[in-house]
Amino acid sequence: MHTFLPPRNDFPILSQLVNRSPLIYLDNAATTQKPMAVLNASRHYYEAINSNIHRGTHHLARAATEAYESARITVATHLGTADAAEVIFTSGCTDAINLAAFCLSAELRQGDEILISTLEHHSNIVPWQMACQRSGAILKIIPCDENGVLDQTAFHEMLSERVKILAITWISNAFGTVNPVKEMIAAAHAHGTTVLIDAAQAAPHLPIHVGELDCDILTFSGHKVYAPTGIGVLWGKRSLLEKLPPYRGGGEMIKEVTFAHTTYNELPFKYEAGTPNIEGAIALAAALDYVNAIGIVTIKEHETSLIREAEKALSAIDGMRFYGPADRCGALSFSIEGIHAYDLGTFLDQMGVAVRTGHHCCQPLMARFAISGTTRASFALYNTLDEVASFAACVERAVKMLR
Ligand code: ALA
Repeated sequence: MHTFLPPRNDFPILSQLVNRSPLIYLDNAATTQKPMAVLNASRHYYEAINSNIHRGTHHLARAATEAYESARITVATHLGTADAAEVIFTSGCTDAINLAAFCLSAELRQGDEILISTLEHHSNIVPWQMACQRSGAILKIIPCDENGVLDQTAFHEMLSERVKILAITWISNAFGTVNPVKEMIAAAHAHGTTVLIDAAQAAPHLPIHVGELDCDILTFSGHKVYAPTGIGVLWGKRSLLEKLPPYRGGGEMIKEVTFAHTTYNELPFKYEAGTPNIEGAIALAAALDYVNAIGIVTIKEHETSLIREAEKALSAIDGMRFYGPADRCGALSFSIEGIHAYDLGTFLDQMGVAVRTGHHCCQPLMARFAISGTTRASFALYNTLDEVASFAACVERAVKMLR
């Protein structure tokens, strides 16, 4: 029985009309809307405690530092680790993966291999291509089947002592495929491979426990989990982060600087050069508190029921093709024979419905399926079954007009 009541009133942006229709926001895999708790945390920071951190001796500097470091502890607790120094604030998941790829490049040698998968977002492809260019390592791609599910046999065959890094998404942003990351991490570790999990799409839908996963690095963006843009997280095992070189140079990441030599600060500061996004980190903590007050499992169950309903309602449309497996999470990606995704997205927008169309920053995945893109509806805790019904009716109407 579906009992969760989406807290619509917590999200002021949702109550507007778009093109004279009530907004139906189904582009949550791109970014989520922000609840009042997050907006208030951002506002409170600038109204009451705005200051630079770790530097000043004055009251505001202390208050801002305390709030920022307390946000780090909230993130660490959310990820199931007691060691908050393993949490590095970044500008987003892309920034976090770039950090990892840059720093891990120092460990790579000519002929080493980096494994990624066909399902990856460009942000988990391009930084590794750059790492290969820097180091002479070779990028290898785990294939997927017609359902957008990774070929586990191929993956196991690709593993060897040459594979130094496995970097895979937990959930595909384009198709909603949930990868069996725990098993993949264990298999990779048996070959001494360092594993990065891109949790950009997992963070809004799944509980994360880095100890249970036993990955080496995990990254996510704040804005996909109800926090502002411009803040993200890289979590890494302390031993790994201590061993790797720093990423960016500047203030905060140093212990001592002379013109001849610099020594680096301890974790987490070694990886946080310059003034960080203080307000973003504080608002991210507010977002995680908000999510945890509802319960991530409750959120996931609610979203799953929305996806199931959407799939059922859209199945009636002639020429409908869904991408990804039946147990998809967060996103429902589809194409309709004879109708261009962009045209459908434009018609839906005219009816107040926001979806994403196109390649979803996954051009190689689209190439694998020989398509230019899909239409993607992606769900969040505030979406309702009524919205799903209206969305399906709007798609039907658009299809009639476009055919
Ligand atoms: N990665 C985001 C998406 O899938 C932007 O839409």
